[in-house]
Amino acid sequence: MREGSHYTFGDQGPAAERLRRLASLYRPLSASVLEQACVTLGVAADLAIDLGAGPGYTTELVAEVTQARVAIGYERSPAFCAEARARCGGSLDFVELDVGAEDLPIQNVDLGFCRFLLTHLPNPLETLGRWKKALRPGGVMVFLEVERLSSSDPVLARYYRMIEGVQAEHGQAMSIGRTLEALVQKAGWRVVDSQAVDPCLPASAMATLHRPNLESVRKDPWVQGHFKPEEIDEIAVGLERIGAETGKGTPIDNVLRVVIARA
Ligand SMILES: C[S@@+](CC[C@H](N)C(=O)[O-])C[C@H]1O[C@@H](n2cnc3c(N)ncnc32)[C@H](O)[C@@H]1O
Repeated sequence: MREGSHYTFGDQGPAAERLRRLASLYRPLSASVLEQACVTLGVAADLAIDLGAGPGYTTELVAEVTQARVAIGYERSPAFCAEARARCGGSLDFVELDVGAEDLPIQNVDLGFCRFLLTHLPNPLETLGRWKKALRPGGVMVFLEVERLSSSDPVLARYYRMIEGVQAEHGQAMSIGRTLEALVQKAGWRVVDSQAVDPCLPASAMATLHRPNLESVRKDPWVQGHFKPEEIDEIAVGLERIGAETGKGTPIDNVLRVVIARA
């Protein structure tokens, strides 16, 4: 990661594999929202962008669903960009950029996608305002963020408290989905659709997704000040146990906010 920026879950070790898993879990929902955005756009998308592209799985999905002639993923991490370029073999473009701080170096975008990124930005309102300039008039943007993520299970509850705390320490909001529609509107976009969606993922899948995050999160000074190493180890073991559960298992409240907006 570059100096001066903070992404809670890091780009090293298991981070890319975690995003591959995340992409597969959220693929059906994301594909159907992208299809809805294509219908809203009303014409074939020529130019599509993906903000906070990670190792490129979302950019691939955007290209596949929209059939855009050009699809570009913007991502701050050089490691994720390199992995995306290696995997996609030049069929898609990946540009290293801090989209929270810099203007998007593009215009006339037909369709944009932004999943699980605004939650990591300290200034989402100002950033949303700047992104508008990249879209053509009538261009459509899809936003997808966590609105609620909680559990009565003590391990998951402690994990979520840790993530919420560390993100707040960096000026970020874990559950930014709660205010997403208002933020998008306030930044000058026209909201076309806003829905709370339950992705229907079992706690075991979520725990398996969360477990690798502990490796980067435990290095954070705020986490070190608020959680003992043994406690983090306990959470790790607990997440592994929940991850191995079959059947209905642990209760989890996982709701996303999906907003489709026009520039
Ligand atoms: C939770 S991941 C989501 C990746 C992808 N959008 C998805 O849904 O699978 C967040 C991604 O945003 C990237 N990111 C965080 N802050 C960023 C910024 N300011 N500019 C560009 N990318 C950023 C991270 O490096 C990471 O790849």
